[in-house]
Amino acid sequence: MNTKKLHISTIGCQMNVYDANQIAGVLAPLGYSLTQDIDTADMVVVNTCTIREKAEQKAFSALGRLAKIKLANPSLIVAVGGCVAQQEGQAIVKRMPHVDLVFGTHAIFRLPEMVRRIESTRCRIVDVRLSDTIENDTVVVGPLDTGQISAFVTIMRGCDNYCTYCVVPHVRGREASRHPDRIVQEIRMLVGQGIREVTLLGQNVNSYGNKEALCSFAELLARVNEIEGLGRIRFTTSHPKDLSEALIQAFGSLEKLCHHIHLPVQSGDDLILKRMNRRYTRRDYLKKVQRLRTVCPGISITSDFIVGFPGETDRQFQATLDLIKTVGYDGLFAFMYSDRPLAPATAFSNKISDAVKKERLQTLLDVQRQITEKRHQKMVGKVQTVLVEGPSRSIDTGQALATAPQTRWSGRSSSNHIIHFTAPDILLKKKQWLTGAFVDIMIEGAYAHSLWGRMLNEPNGEPSSKGDTIVAA
Ligand code: SAH
Ligand code: SF4
Ligand code: F3S
Repeated sequence: MNTKKLHISTIGCQMNVYDANQIAGVLAPLGYSLTQDIDTADMVVVNTCTIREKAEQKAFSALGRLAKIKLANPSLIVAVGGCVAQQEGQAIVKRMPHVDLVFGTHAIFRLPEMVRRIESTRCRIVDVRLSDTIENDTVVVGPLDTGQISAFVTIMRGCDNYCTYCVVPHVRGREASRHPDRIVQEIRMLVGQGIREVTLLGQNVNSYGNKEALCSFAELLARVNEIEGLGRIRFTTSHPKDLSEALIQAFGSLEKLCHHIHLPVQSGDDLILKRMNRRYTRRDYLKKVQRLRTVCPGISITSDFIVGFPGETDRQFQATLDLIKTVGYDGLFAFMYSDRPLAPATAFSNKISDAVKKERLQTLLDVQRQITEKRHQKMVGKVQTVLVEGPSRSIDTGQALATAPQTRWSGRSSSNHIIHFTAPDILLKKKQWLTGAFVDIMIEGAYAHSLWGRMLNEPNGEPSSKGDTIVAA
């Protein structure tokens, strides 16, 4: 088979990262292998996002830059996938003569056929067909990076929640869940290739399986928990309205389930929540947070916030700040509200000015920074089991740590904190030695954006906590 080079650039959420891997996987049988070098590629895929206006602009500028590359290499196939492709469809080929293929969020499994046709006839294709069910649930595991130990697995697609600010239901279609057998099969294959941690993905994993009467999300987690060789399970995202008691209980009973939940709340004000169509109140949300902390003391909780939703008053914004302080998040993502043409809130009155949105965003981030710092400080002196991801790239403390010789590594705690640590040089005869290992780290330094610690395992590789292993040299 002749080898052709495929370059994929991805903008957007974890689902797009997963999709990029699927795209590489379905095109591999056609002879395409991945390249980082866009100039020598035979095919370029821009995998796009349209969640906020900026993401869409970014997609169009990435596409614009490709015009020049196509001019220099006319046989290059230029393809646009993801949510902008789904949103804009035909308009992209009209506006951009250098684009050969526009494929929507449900078209990935139709790609091989389309690419073959383009290769042989040099036609231009737009496929943005959405279907209500999952038509093709083939298990595909695309290429993994060297030393990759963590992977995403999409368990459902689409969203039926129609939050008024959000474009996702319009570009990802109706909610549909994959069969648990396919999910388990895919994770087994990933584990066979060295993956130790999976993150199960869906816009609202809490309603997994409901429509198709497959099994509940808690039951799916229990099945994944049984997979031999898998070390950790994470998931995202949870809609607070559908967070069930069974799922809360899973944090207390499934040993592989990490002690972290991303529970986007968006606002701390009931009227704003109502106008966002979130279908829970601040009180409902706080009750669920309390249940989580009762079942799993120390669980790390993170969230998403939108500031400057149309009509948001200063008092309503203060209610959001108050909620942040009440919950005491381990971390959060905050966004300035952005009009999305397909989302109903675009037609809402009383839009908030950019200046006010910016100010509120800054205030919110300042409040959270103080909370994060305090929570980081509380971790000092405590031991965390870390799944090592690789040599540490962060040098943000500028600290000369402990005694030489040693090397810096980093990984994540169960609570999803990134922890940098030093390991005695004697352990590092092989470069990848610690990658994929579980090690116990004593936290010794806490900074605004990072945590630092010292490895407690004995240099002979004996782990100090039961059940954890150091990868053999
Ligand atoms: N399904 C997930 C969210 C996916 S989008 C959930 O319900 O939690 C990720 C985040 O982008 C959202 O949580 C929200 O905070 C933000 N977001 C979505 N639409 C937005 C918009 N129009 N403007 C600003 N932020 C937005
Ligand atoms: Fe968007 Fe709401 Fe669906 Fe999340 S739950 S993807 S915010 S519509
Ligand atoms: Fe973006 Fe689509 Fe994800 S709009 S956030 S890539 S679902």
